[in-house]
Order: sequence, then C-alpha cells, then structure tokens
Amino acid sequence: MNCTKMSKRVFQLKVNIEEQGYLFEGLWAVPNGVSINSYLVRGEKSALIDMTQDLHSLTSSLEQQLEQTGTTLEELDYVIVNHMEPDHSGMLREFAAKNRRCRFLCSQKAVPLLEHFSSIPMDRVDVVGDGESLDLGKGMILRFYLIPNVHWPETMATYLEPEKTLFPCDAFGSYGAVEEYVFDDQLSDERAAFYEKEALRYYANIVATFSPFVEKAIAKLKALDIEVIAPSHGIVWRRNPAAIINHYKRYASYAKGPAEPEICLLWGSMYGNTEKSIAPLVRGIKSEGLELSIFRVPQDDLGHILAAAWKATGLVFAMPTYEYKMFPPMAQAIEDLMVKKVRNKKVLRVGSYGWVGGAEKDFRTRTAKAGWDIRESLEFQGCPTDDDLLKMEEEGRKLAQQVKEFCGQ
Ligand SMILES: Cc1cc2nc3c(=O)[nH]c(=O)nc-3n(C[C@H](O)[C@H](O)[C@H](O)COP(=O)(O)O)c2cc1C
Ligand SMILES: [Fe+2]
Ligand SMILES: [Fe+2]
Repeated sequence: MNCTKMSKRVFQLKVNIEEQGYLFEGLWAVPNGVSINSYLVRGEKSALIDMTQDLHSLTSSLEQQLEQTGTTLEELDYVIVNHMEPDHSGMLREFAAKNRRCRFLCSQKAVPLLEHFSSIPMDRVDVVGDGESLDLGKGMILRFYLIPNVHWPETMATYLEPEKTLFPCDAFGSYGAVEEYVFDDQLSDERAAFYEKEALRYYANIVATFSPFVEKAIAKLKALDIEVIAPSHGIVWRRNPAAIINHYKRYASYAKGPAEPEICLLWGSMYGNTEKSIAPLVRGIKSEGLELSIFRVPQDDLGHILAAAWKATGLVFAMPTYEYKMFPPMAQAIEDLMVKKVRNKKVLRVGSYGWVGGAEKDFRTRTAKAGWDIRESLEFQGCPTDDDLLKMEEEGRKLAQQVKEFCGQ
C-alpha cells in the first residue's frame, strides 16, 4: 500500500483489513473490507493523527508508508490520539517502545484509557482541552474539538486550520476497503453509491446508539470552515464534504423517525408455517409501492439487518413461538435492535404457534421501551388458513399506508 499525498504537508497512511471472515469489533461482518486511515501533518515538527490496530501486517505497512513520506516512526514529534478504540490506538504500545521522546496529545477522558490500554508513561501525555491548539511550525496549526460519545466518551476531532481539513476519526467514516481512489472526486457514480451504502452500515453498526451525540458534534463542528473531511475509515471528502455531513445528519435523524419510506421485514421459521405469511405480506406492502428489504434469521447477517432496519420507517417481524418465547434468533435480532436504539418505527408482527403461544408476550415485553407503534399482531395456530393469508396481505398494505403517511407521502 502506498501513502497518499493530500497536500504539500499532509499525507494519508492507510491500511485495509480484507481477510475473509474478519469481524470488525469482533462482531460485524465486513464483506467489502474496511480501511483504517492515519494522517501525517508536517510543519517544523511532525504529528501523526491516529494510528492503527496492533496487527503486524498493519503496523509494518504503516511504518513503510511513513518512510515513503521521508519520515520514520522514531522521528515523529507528536501523536494525536483522537480516539482510544484499538483499531486506531492498538499500535501505541509498540510505537511508544520505538519512539521514546514523542508526546501524545489526547482529551482528558482519554488519559485513563491510555494508561490502561497502552504502556505509555503518563509524563509523555499532554491533555488538550476543547478549542486548544498545537502549532507544528510553518503555519501548521492543529486545533482540537471534543466530540464526546461519537462513539466513545474520550473522542475528539482535530482540525488543521490552514488547510481547513477536519480529521474526525470515526465520525463520518464508512466501511469498504479503499484502494487507489481515496477522494470523493475520484469515484465513479457507482463507487460513490457503494461508499454511501457502506457509510450507512458503518453508522448503523458502530455509531447509531449515539445519534443524539452525532447531532451535537455536527452542530459544534458547523462553526468551522471545512473544505476536507478526512475520517479514519473510508474515503476522504474534498469535492463535497457537506455530502457526508448530510448523510450522517440524515442517519442520526432516523432515530427520531420517520426514516425512509421503506419497510424492513425480518422472518424466521422452523417448519415453514410462519414462512407462509411472507408472500402475502410482501404482496400487501408492494401494492403500496414501497421499497422492501427482507432478511431471514439466523441466516442473514446482523450488520446488514441493522442497517436496513435503521433506514426503514416500517418493520415487520414474522416468527413462531419457541419454548413459550420468540424463536430465539429473532429474540436475538430484536435484542440487537434495542441495543442500537432502533426507535420510533411503525411495526407489525405475525407468527405461528403450536398450543398456547408465548412469542407475542415476549415480543411486547422486549420492545416495550422502543417507542414502536405496533399494530395488532396476526397469530395463527399451526398452518395459516386462507383467511389468515388474506388478512396478512391486508395488514401488509395497511402498514405500508401508515409508513407513507408518517413519511408525509
Ligand atoms: C423446539 C420447539 C419449541 C416450541 N415451543 C412452543 C411453545 O412453547 N408454545 C407453543 O405454542 N408452540 C411451541 N412450538 C410450536 C411452534 O410454535 C409451531 O410448531 C409453529 O407452527 C412453528 O412455526 P414455523 O413452522 O414457522 O417454525 C414449538 C416448536 C418447536 C419446534
Ligand atoms: Fe471507534
Ligand atoms: Fe474506528
């Protein structure tokens, strides 16, 4: 991997994680890979903004790219630690052993994390406050803005004043490996659409829980004159930095609803009885012309389910009763939607039971705090009758109408 010269004094150093089966945060499938970006700013002194994970292939690639810029790890004067999650800070331990004089700048809240995650002597750490700056010489002034809880409490963004470039770490990031085309203006329409989808899934998986803090961060950073947004995952936005800010604003707004005029249908079935309700539900929803995404649990990937559910205004859950509760993979999926604060949706539930049921009560209990507007459920014993199937279609249609109305259509 080669470093990318962004300007005379700014370089991007980037690594891609593309191993098959790799789970980001040990949890999220990234079938299209994910990049981890660091940035070198050179004045009279040099600063590296964020690092990478402590996997040898990544740290050695970062080192090589640093050498391409004519610098070495040992020569760096500062490391700016915007965020202590180990995808950006894992390398600190190894780095601190190689460079015994550089100083580490971070927010106050990052200090205990630095202490416990890395072996850096605390007398090499400088705390920066909101709005404080670091002058690297030759006009290269970095200014720091605290953006807590996007998505860890210690997070800050770094702004390079003379170049109007914001380094916001995870904020405005996206999944998707980045190869030679690093900037938004180098992408085909197709590739740009790809990164937009990857940004939504990244948001839903990593940031969604903290949407009110995303909104606060955007409001705060609005005061800056931003020409370039250089996040630590995904592409760099220099033709239209407002695009990714607006995407994030929109994603954050989905928490309050309405989101997009779409429906996300999740279903699980052991023996095919609940499955029979899917076709009429789909017919009913589609009769209203709404976009629909369909996922099966446990077969389909949770990260993709979360992204689709986050973006949709309507949710449909179809699952049978299992040991007096919901079919377990659906209970798990719903639990994950609760953790990510998927809120304010229009919702319908259907499902089969054998003798007394139990899924319905479990479903209502688990979703009680989600602020969901849930229609009366359609439950049936064993196999659905023709009458049940007609009701499914009708309920699918009614949910779609409700979604359209909520979306102002
Ligand atoms: C392992 C297992 C546990 C079940 N537990 C219950 C139960 O607690 N209460 C109930 O009413 N039905 C229970 N059932 C019956 C199913 O809900 C019923 O067979 C239903 O039609 C399955 O729907 P499906 O074909 O969509 O999987 C259970 C079935 C299985 C296989
Ligand atoms: Fe993070
Ligand atoms: Fe990250």
